[in-house]
Amino acid sequence: MTTSARLRRTSCDALLAAAGVRPADRVLDVGCGAGDTTRTAARLASRGYAVGVDLSAPLLRRAQELTAAEKIHNATYFVADAQVHPFPPCGYDVIVSQGGVTSFADTAAAFRNLARALLPGGRLAFTCPRPAGGVRTALEGWEYVEITPLTLETPSRADVWLITANRPRSVPAAHPPTVTRW
Ligand SMILES: C[S@@+](CC[C@H](N)C(=O)[O-])C[C@H]1O[C@@H](n2cnc3c(N)ncnc32)[C@H](O)[C@@H]1O
Repeated sequence: MTTSARLRRTSCDALLAAAGVRPADRVLDVGCGAGDTTRTAARLASRGYAVGVDLSAPLLRRAQELTAAEKIHNATYFVADAQVHPFPPCGYDVIVSQGGVTSFADTAAAFRNLARALLPGGRLAFTCPRPAGGVRTALEGWEYVEITPLTLETPSRADVWLITANRPRSVPAAHPPTVTRW
């Protein structure tokens, strides 16, 4: 295993442990790339399933190939911009992301979109590669926000940040309600 693959594995294991994926969970992996985290989540959610989304169709094709090769039957993928995709409301128990939420244009709006996809009490856990400036603001309204460093033992001691939060108690509708004028 290469160093970067080893680091990804360590970070993935810490992420999924923090997310607390349980056997019956429905898990959404945002910015899943080639699906490493999605497949690990699918194994943990043995009676549920994991869904990976990414902007990159070629990466998702690779994810599908690896999923078939590893004979995992409860992981699926589709192309989506997680910032705005209309995920099924309350469709997931857990949302995870390994480095996939760092290039959102409007992070707070993207997290609100993800909140709508979570079941009440559902959990969001993600890693990002640098001190999560602004994340606390972007997660305003979310419950139990925790931001902790995860030091990966490399020659350069890469620090990854691990952020966990529970769905906000009240989640705004996707669009402002339509006002009917008479
Ligand atoms: C650093 S890579 C991490 C990939 C994977 N999670 C891993 O650990 O190997 C970030 C991924 O997020 C995806 N991504 C970035 N913005 C996204 C968005 N708005 N919606 C969905 N995926 C996105 C990118 O295409 C890329 O594959």
